[in-house]
Order: sequence, then C-alpha cells, then structure tokens
Amino acid sequence: QELELQLEMLEKGGYDHFMLKEIYEQPRSIRDCMRGRIYPAEGKVQLGGIKEFAEKLKNIDRIIIVACGTSWHAGLVGEYLIEEYARIPVEVEYASEFRYRNPIITEKDVVIAISQSGETADTMAAIEMAKEKGATIFGVCNVVGASIPRITHAGVYTHAGPEIGVASTKAFTAQVTVLTLMAFYMAQQKGTIVNSKLVELLTELDCIPEKIHHALESNEQIKTIAEKFKDSRNCLFLGRGSGFPVALEGALKLKEISYIHAEGYPAAEMKHGPIALIDEEMPVVFIATKNSSYEKVISNIQEVKARKGVVIAIVTEGDTDVKKMADYCIEIPDASEAFLPLLATIPLQLLSYHIAVLRGCNVDQPRNLAKSVTVE
Ligand code: G6P
Repeated sequence: QELELQLEMLEKGGYDHFMLKEIYEQPRSIRDCMRGRIYPAEGKVQLGGIKEFAEKLKNIDRIIIVACGTSWHAGLVGEYLIEEYARIPVEVEYASEFRYRNPIITEKDVVIAISQSGETADTMAAIEMAKEKGATIFGVCNVVGASIPRITHAGVYTHAGPEIGVASTKAFTAQVTVLTLMAFYMAQQKGTIVNSKLVELLTELDCIPEKIHHALESNEQIKTIAEKFKDSRNCLFLGRGSGFPVALEGALKLKEISYIHAEGYPAAEMKHGPIALIDEEMPVVFIATKNSSYEKVISNIQEVKARKGVVIAIVTEGDTDVKKMADYCIEIPDASEAFLPLLATIPLQLLSYHIAVLRGCNVDQPRNLAKSVTVE
C-alpha cells in the first residue's frame, strides 16, 4: 500500500493530481507534436502519416470530422482552420449521430476521426461505415497502435504522451495542434496559401509552447478566482469564432470534474435563450481576446453586465477595454487568431481544476466517467 502510494506520487511528478501535471506538460507535449513536422524558415509542413494522400487532397470536395466528447471540440476548431486556410468545406459530426443517420458519403470524401484513446466505440463504428462507402479515413489519435489507427487508411499521431486524468487536457491541445498542421498542409497542397504567409504562421506556431508556458503563470491568480466561484451552481461559457469551441470545452471541463452545471454557447446566441438565466448569481466566462470578433464580444459582455451577471474574461495581454467592464480578467499572450484556441484553453483548464479541488472532488477520476468509452 505504502509502496503503491509512493509510486503514484512519483508518477505525478510532484503535482497533486495527474490533471495538473498534464496541464503543465502542454508546452512540452505541443513541442513533441510539432517535432519534425514544421519547417518555419521554409514555410513547409511535413506529415509523413498522410503523405501518400497528398495528391488526393488537392481535389477533395469536403471533409467530415467524426469524434466524441473533447475530441469533437477539437474537431470544431479544425473546421475553422481547414475552411480558413485550405478552403475545403468541413462538417463536424458526433460519431454517435453520424453512424445512425444514413449519411451521404462518397469516394471523394475524406473522413478525419479524432480520438485520444483510439478505442471509442461510436467513433470506430462511424469509421467502419464511412469506409464501407468508399471514403478515405484519416485518424488523429494519441495512443499509438490502438484500434482506430489500425482501421484507418492513414493518420497523424498527436504524440501527447499517456494521459491519465479522465478529463482531457494535453490530448486536446495536441489534437488542435495536429489539426492546425493538417489545415496548413492541405493549404500548401492546394495552393490556397502563399509561402510567405506559411513562413509567418509556422514561425509563430513554433513559439506557441513558450506562450503556453507564459499562460500557465496565471495559475495563482486563477486559484484566487476559483475560490470566489467554487460554490456556484451554474456557469456560462461564451465565445465567437474559434472561441466558441473553446467555450464548449471550458464548460465541459467544469461540469466533468466539479459537477457544476455549465454550458458553452456562441456569444451571439446568448440572446436566444441563455440570457434569461443571467442574474448576480451567474458567472459568465467570456473568451474576449483581441481578434476579429473582439468588438462583438465586448457588446455581449455589456449585455451580461446590464443584467448584473458576473464576468470572468480571458483577454489578450495588455487589454484595457474589457478590463473596464469585466469583474475578473485573465490575460493570455497575444497571438494570431489561428492559435488562440491553444492559448485560451489553458486558463479554462486551470479554472475548472482549482474549482474542482476546492469542492473536494476527485479530479482525476470524476464520478460516472471513463477515460475511454468502448461501449456505445
Ligand atoms: C470519454 C472521455 C473524454 C473523451 C471522450 C472521447 O468521454 O472521458 O475525455 O473526450 O471519451 O474519447 P476519445 O478517446 O475518442 O478522444
């Protein structure tokens, strides 16, 4: 017993929980995920796993992403990036819905299945179905040699290393990183991006691990904020553009490990429902970084403040406008819109972690949840 405890402490590397250790591993896991795949000076992305399909990618009509849970959120970020840079239409589907819907799939379709474990039953069934209809299947998995990588035609591993905490953290950011690389790779194949732009983007991507390291420095401040909200019963997460999937993921993390009811919404949809819930008891977390939807998000924050909601905002370093309105601001380093999901996710992971710890929850093994769901 004593020995087992010591072993576990050792595995946690000095952190109180696997989840916290995995959150802190992200500068390294993202670096590992990009290793040997990006050449910033040349403006080149190399993805050995899907190389043999490079020609096919020039002529595909659409991409269908299938996944469950957190992996599905990564898929939504992928949709923004692939459409933006490679100009290929993307649909993101819950694997469980897709497999039972008699969807229209042809040989010209590429299906990207995202799965940390590579064992999720619904995702596997969705792959089998699409494969039967002749689609090309790419996997984005973390566990090397798992079932999904074995049934796909090709794929790109996330290389985040083993993830023990049931709530996904470093696997999510690695999935987003791989999808970013795939978007750039497809753009490069299709010629929808000029080389100088790719040089610029890859140079910036190369610095993202350091920026994540910097974002992690807000940990103490986030802990203080967590103390204020640990007894909340509900929480809303709002974002626009690629900040929307980040909001969904923030809400999922909070509900998974702290059992606080949380919902993620596109900020503009707030007025079609969630606004009815806002009062002084309701914390609203905004992804309010400086990007193309900044001004719009600011007016959404004003709408919440007008109804006495409590605003916690994730903002770009040096922001002054949101600071005047929000009750709490957590800064993240400035970055191009393409990389915001990677950075904005970090404070949300820490916020849910600290709230769950303060509530005395079993952070690494939340009730009723499993790390991989091999039944439908
Ligand atoms: C479970 C896990 C989630 C995960 C989801 C999909 O619900 O608790 O963290 O996002 O399955 O798993 P996958 O391994 O396919 O990414």
